[in-house]
Amino acid sequence: MKALVCNAFGPIDDLRVQEVPVPTPADQGVRIQVHACGINFPDILLVQGKYQVRPPLPFFPGGEVAGTISALGPGVTGLRVGQRVMATIFWGGLAEEVLAPVAAVVPVPDSMDMLSAAVFQGGHTTAYHALRQRGALQRGETLLVLGAAGGVGMAAMQIGRAMGARVIGAVSSARKLEALRAEGFEDVIDYGRDDLREALNRLTGGQGADVIFDPVGGELFGKACRCARRNGRILIVGFASGQIGQYATNLALLKENAVIGVNYQQFFAKERAAVDRNFEELMALNASGAIRPRIDRVFALDEAVQALAAVADRSVIGKVVVRLRD
Ligand SMILES: NC(=O)c1ccc[n+]([C@@H]2O[C@H](COP(=O)([O-])OP(=O)(O)OC[C@H]3O[C@@H](n4cnc5c(N)ncnc54)[C@H](OP(=O)(O)O)[C@@H]3O)[C@@H](O)[C@H]2O)c1
Repeated sequence: MKALVCNAFGPIDDLRVQEVPVPTPADQGVRIQVHACGINFPDILLVQGKYQVRPPLPFFPGGEVAGTISALGPGVTGLRVGQRVMATIFWGGLAEEVLAPVAAVVPVPDSMDMLSAAVFQGGHTTAYHALRQRGALQRGETLLVLGAAGGVGMAAMQIGRAMGARVIGAVSSARKLEALRAEGFEDVIDYGRDDLREALNRLTGGQGADVIFDPVGGELFGKACRCARRNGRILIVGFASGQIGQYATNLALLKENAVIGVNYQQFFAKERAAVDRNFEELMALNASGAIRPRIDRVFALDEAVQALAAVADRSVIGKVVVRLRD
C-alpha cells in the first residue's frame, strides 16, 4: 500500500509517498481502508518532533480518518468488515490502510459522507468538550473564539451558537472575517487590523466575554485574558502561534476569572462514558444541521504535503482533507 512516510523528524517537505507493508490488526483492533484523512495542526507538530508525544520512526502522519473496515482482530466483536467507520488515531492516517483500536472506532451515520466524517472528530469533539465540560458555557452567555476560522475554532463557533450563546469570532484577516460572515456569524473581529479588546468592547457595550476559547496562545492570549467578564472562563486549547501565552494572576483575583486547560486526549482516555455521551450529542447536532464541518480544500495522497502546508501557512478556513479513494 502507499503511505506518506516520515523517516526522520523535520520539515514537512521531507515527507515522501512510499510503498509500505499492509499492517495486521491486533486482538482488539481493526484495519481500516482509508477513504479520507482529515488534516490537523498537531500533524505538523508530530512530523517536526515538536508534539508532546513522539511516534516511533518511521511513521505516517494523519490523526483522523474515515473509511471502511477491511480486517478485524481475533478478539473484536460488534464491528464487521465493510462497515463505514471514523477513527481518531493520532497518526497513521495518511496511508491506504490504517490500524485502529476498537475503542477509537465509531460508525459513520448514513447521513454523513466520508469526507465530512474524516474531518468531524478533530475539531468538533475538542470544541464540544471544551465548551461543555471545561467552560460550562450557558445559554445567553457571550463566547469569544480566537482563531475562529481554523479547525477547532470554527467548530467552537458552530457549537457555541448551537448551545445558545452569543458567539464572537476573532480572526487575523479580512478574508477569514468574510468567510465567517458567509457561515452566518455576524459578530466578527479582525485582530490583524483592529485591537482585540477595543473591538470586543464595541460589540459588547464594554462587557467583554463570559467564555474565551483560545487555540492560538502567545500574545493574543495575553490580550484576550483582559477581555473576560467577572466569572469569566478562559479556555486554553492550543498554541497555534507557536508561543505559550503569559497570564497575570491578578486578573483572576480582580474579576474572579478561571484559566482552564483543555486536553481532549486525556478526556478520551479517562472519561469514556462522557466521551460517548458527547459524541451522541454532537451527532444529533450534526443531523439537525446545527453543526457541520466546513471543508476548504480536498487533496490527493500525492499532494498531502500541500495539505499540511496549507494548515502551516495559516490559509485554511475550516478544514482540509486528503482523499485516498472515491
Ligand atoms: N487541547 C486539545 O485537546 C486540542 C485538540 C485539538 C487541537 N488542539 C490544538 O488547537 C490548535 C489549533 O488546531 P487547529 O487544528 O484548529 O489548527 P488550524 O486549523 O491551523 O487553526 C489554527 C488557527 O490559529 C491561528 N494562528 C495564529 N498564529 C498561527 C500560526 N503561526 N500558524 C498557524 N495558525 C496560527 C490561525 O488563525 P488566524 O490566522 O485567524 O489567527 C489558524 O486558523 C493547535 O495548537 C492544536 O494543537 C488542541
